[in-house]
This record gives sequence, structure tokens and C-alpha cells, in this order.
Amino acid sequence: MSPMSPLVANARQPAQRAPISGIITAVNYGRDREGLIPLWAGEGDLPTPRFISEAAAAALIGGETFYTHQRGIPELRQALADYYGRHFPGTYDPDTFFITGSGMQAIQISIALTAGDGDEILIPSPSWPNAAGAAIIAGAKPVTVPFDEEGGVFNLNMDRLAAAVTPRTKALFLNSPANPTGWTASHDKLVEVLAFARQHGLWIIADEIYSRFYWLDGPRAPSFLDIADPEDRILYVNTFSKNWAMTGWRMGWIHAPLPLKQTLENLIQYSTSGVAQFMQRAGTVALNDGEWFVEHTIARARRGRQVVSDALAGHNRITYAPPDGAFYAFLKVDGLASSQAASFSLIDDAGVGTAPGTAFGAEGEGFVRICFARSEESLSVAMERILQILR
Ligand SMILES: Cc1ncc(COP(=O)(O)O)c(C=O)c1O
Repeated sequence: MSPMSPLVANARQPAQRAPISGIITAVNYGRDREGLIPLWAGEGDLPTPRFISEAAAAALIGGETFYTHQRGIPELRQALADYYGRHFPGTYDPDTFFITGSGMQAIQISIALTAGDGDEILIPSPSWPNAAGAAIIAGAKPVTVPFDEEGGVFNLNMDRLAAAVTPRTKALFLNSPANPTGWTASHDKLVEVLAFARQHGLWIIADEIYSRFYWLDGPRAPSFLDIADPEDRILYVNTFSKNWAMTGWRMGWIHAPLPLKQTLENLIQYSTSGVAQFMQRAGTVALNDGEWFVEHTIARARRGRQVVSDALAGHNRITYAPPDGAFYAFLKVDGLASSQAASFSLIDDAGVGTAPGTAFGAEGEGFVRICFARSEESLSVAMERILQILR
């Protein structure tokens, strides 16, 4: 290993400790390979629909290039309140929505509000690594709580969660439906988790970004919005990335209790000072006129899930249960010594980009994650190629 540069050695400890993303390592390894089918990232193969892009373009050309509202333009926050009114119980005040520069930044701001130096944040794992990374950068300690796993089915063990609580625990990051496992909290599980958080005085950072990608009965996954009181310490983080194919836009939001309005406005002011107004015009149009596209995207992912299930049926080296939610297959490969090596070899030998299970924590060793939010045709080819290697 090359010696550490004094520049790195003099960086703040949390910055030094920020881990390299295992997903990005795979992407960097295989980026621009000809003919590669990219199933490594959490995004589909459809570009943002034109009517959304046109709203941004028109606003940009029309001169909406000035500083704007820190918390988000009123039209977008109203559109979010309306969207929530259509999909969740109750009515929503536009002042409880805060526009952020991505779901990732919504998480970062939520952590800034809840935990800092030496504080602990519980994260059921395997989990999307970025919440832990953001906790580390904030000086906090991510405490992973392993899911139970049997036959590819994951379960959140409440005893294990309770055992992980210490006097320094400030928050629980709960992602349901979950990336990468597909675990999705039932209504009853959410009731248990909320009682647990109330008992220990914890914040919940509720990452329900995949709630519309739900494969059991019902139009969406169970949400804390179904059961929580307005004064519960819950910060809902969300994003335009997945529902409206806007991963590259970097725009998301937080839904939070009204009394936090000024605190969140300040946290936004001292991070990005707000999201570009022309982008917010696109977000407004997406929410108000984009339901057909969300439904189209969900239907495609549902078919993708089926393609993966069909392809894996009868392969006894791979343990896999179709996920209850989100759009990932998390495959446990019997006898796999290194997920990372497997993911590199799938890039080299199969021409398919996957994310190594270890990108999602030590519990992910032996697993490989693929994203199935894409065309059935390309997914079928990818599965054929993957199985040829893993066989
Ligand atoms: C669980 C989860 N939360 C949040 C995000 C953040 O999405 P973005 O930063 O693209 O808005 C992702 C992206 O993959 C995710 O998987």
C-alpha cells in the first residue's frame, strides 16, 4: 500500500473514515465496457420522460436562474402535499415538505438534525451503504443490526434491535421496502418499531422511497404515515429518482413535523441553500402529471421481478426469494468466497454489472445484488449470462 499523503492524514478523522462505496467500485471497474448490461445501480433504463424535462428546460430558458426558496418553491411543496393526500391517509401542510438536493442529501440533513459526534444510529443490515457513510461523516457511529435471513427471506428481529440500543443511540434509519434485501415492514412491524422508538426516545429516519414498488397486495407498502402521530420524531426522506426516472437530477425531499420548519430551513441554507428553481418546476410537473409514468415504471419492475424469479427457478446453487418490495434481487450464491471477486468476474466474463453483497455490509458476503427495473428483454439476456457464470 502506498504511504498516506499528509493531506489525507490531516483531514478530519470522520472524512478519513468515510468508506469507499462497493457499488461505485464495481461501476468504476466496469464503466464504459461495450455491451455491458448495467444492473449494479439503483436505476432503470428509461430516461426522464420528456414532459418533465421540458418543464425544466422552459423554466431555465425562461430565466428562472436566480436564488430561490431554501425549503422549496411553494408550487412544489403544494404538489407534494397533494401527492401525499392521494397516497397516504390524512391531509398535508405544504410547510411540512423540504426540497433537498437528492434523497441522499435528505438523509444527510436528517442525520445532521438527529446525531453528531459519538452518537449512534441503528441501521438494519445488509443495507444501502450511504446512510452509514453519511453517519460517519457527521461523526456519528452507524450500528448495524443484522436482519435474520432464511432461504433468502429477511426479517427484522426486534430483540436484536433492542439489544443494540445504548445511551448514545439517537436514531434508527429504517428503509422499507429495503435496498438491497427487499425486506418490507408489515403494518404490525411498523407498529412495533414505532413503539420501540418512542420507548427509547429515538428519531426514526424513515426511508420509504420504494413504497410504490410493492409486490404484495395493495397499492403501496405500509408506511409510518399510516400509524404515526404528528408529534412523533419521524423524518421521512424521499426522492424523485426512482418513481420518475430522475436519478441524474439529484432532487429529493424531507417530510417532517411542522415545528421543525425553521431548523430544516437552516440546515438547507448552510448546505446547498436550496435546489435550482428550474429543477423544482420539473418536480412539480412530475408530481402533478406523472402518475401514468410511475405506474408504467412499477409495471415494468413487476415484470422484471418475474423474469428474475423465472430465470432462477431450479438453480440450486442460488438461494433467492422474490422480494416483497423495491426493485432488487439479492442472490445468495452457495460457495461464493468473495462477492467482490464475483461481481468483477460477472463484469469481465458475463458482461453484466452487479453490485457485490459486501457493498451492503459484512452480512452481505456471499450475495450479489441486481436491479430489475428495466426491460424484460435485456434482463432475460443478463440473467442468462449471469447463470452461465454462476452455474
Ligand atoms: C434506500 C435508498 N435511499 C435513498 C436513496 C437515494 O436516492 P437519490 O440520492 O438518488 O435521491 C437510494 C438510492 O439508491 C436508496 O436506495
